[in-house]
Amino acid sequence: MQGYNVKTLTQFLIERQADIPYATGEFTRLLYHVGVAAKLINKKVNKAGLVDILGEAGNVNVQGEDQKKLDLFSNWQLIQALKNSRECCGVASEEDQEIITWDDDLSKDGNYIFCMDPLDGSSNIDVNVSIGTIFSVYRRVSPRGEKATMEDFLQPGNKQVAAGYVIYGSSTMLVYTTGRGVHGFTLDPSIGEFCLSNYSINTPLDGGIYSINEGNYSRFPQGVKDYIDYCKHDDKETHRPYSARYIGSLVSDFHRNLLKGGIFLYPPTASAPKGKLRLIYECNPIAFLAEQAGGRAFDGTQRILDIKPESLHQRVPFYVGSANMVSKVEECIKKYE
Ligand code: AHG
Ligand code: MN
Ligand code: MN
Repeated sequence: MQGYNVKTLTQFLIERQADIPYATGEFTRLLYHVGVAAKLINKKVNKAGLVDILGEAGNVNVQGEDQKKLDLFSNWQLIQALKNSRECCGVASEEDQEIITWDDDLSKDGNYIFCMDPLDGSSNIDVNVSIGTIFSVYRRVSPRGEKATMEDFLQPGNKQVAAGYVIYGSSTMLVYTTGRGVHGFTLDPSIGEFCLSNYSINTPLDGGIYSINEGNYSRFPQGVKDYIDYCKHDDKETHRPYSARYIGSLVSDFHRNLLKGGIFLYPPTASAPKGKLRLIYECNPIAFLAEQAGGRAFDGTQRILDIKPESLHQRVPFYVGSANMVSKVEECIKKYE
C-alpha cells in the first residue's frame, strides 16, 4: 500500500543542522519552537472571523499605530515560544518599545537573539486578506551567562544566522534561510505539520510585477517616479508594461514576487524621509531571504544587509526583489544624486 512521502520542518531542521557553523542543536530547537508558535498563531488567524479577536485592542504600539488584537496575541505567543526554547536570551519586537530579556539562568545562557514583526499586514486582518510573521535570528555578541544588551540587537543584517516568515494565506507557509538557500514548508492542517514544499527557492532575475503603494506617487523622489513610468511603458522586447500588484502586507507581496519574479518598493517621501518599513525586523530578514534566493535589496544608496542599525525601530526606504529590477530602479535613483 502506498503511503505519504513527506519531510516535516522538524525532520529537515535536524538534517540540516550542520548548515550552521558550530551548531550544537540549540538553533534547531529555537526554530522548532518558532514553528510551534506559528501553528498556534495560524489557528487563531483562521478563527479570526469567529471569535472576538478582530479589531483594535485599545493600545498604541511603539510606532504609534493601533495594535490589533491578533498583533498582541502573536507577540505573546512568540515570546512564550522563545522563552520555552531556552536558547534565546533576548527579543526585539515591533510591538515592544524596549528589548525583552529574562532573569533566569537558562535564558541568560542562551546564544541567540530574535527580532520579529509578530503580525505583518495587520490592517488586512479584518478583511480576510493574507498576513504574516517576519523573524530574524542573530548570535549574541555579549557574553553568555549575562542578559542580552542593545549591542546584540544593533548588528548589521549581514550577521543574521537565520531569517524567515510565515504567511497565513490560502494555505499557511513557513519560509526560511540559514544562508544556505531558501526553503518553504506548507502547513498540512490534517497532520499539523509544516511539510517541505519548496526546496531551494530561486527568484527569477527578471520579473514582470511591480508592487508599490502608488497612491503616494506625487510624493515619491523623481527617480522612483521615473521607474514607475518605466514599469508602465509599453515595450514588447522587455515584456512591459509590468503588472501592478499590491496587497499591503509586505510578507504577502514579497512572497508572491519571490516565486513569480518582481520588485517591491517602499520609497521615502518628504514627510517620511526614511520610508515606513523597519530595518531590524522587516527589511533585514526579507533582504536576507531575497539575496539567498538570488535577488537584491537596497535602500536607495546601499545594500540593506550592510546598514549598521542605530536604533531598534529605525525605518529605511526599501527596494527588494528580482536582481535586474532592483538594479534598474537603482539606475533611475542614481540619475538624481
Ligand atoms: P504592520 O502591519 O506590521 O504594521 O506592517 C504593515 C506594513 C507592511 O506590511 C506593508 O508593506 C506596508 O505596511 C503597507 O503600507 P501602506 O499602507 O503605506 O502601503
Ligand atoms: Mn509589518
Ligand atoms: Mn506588525
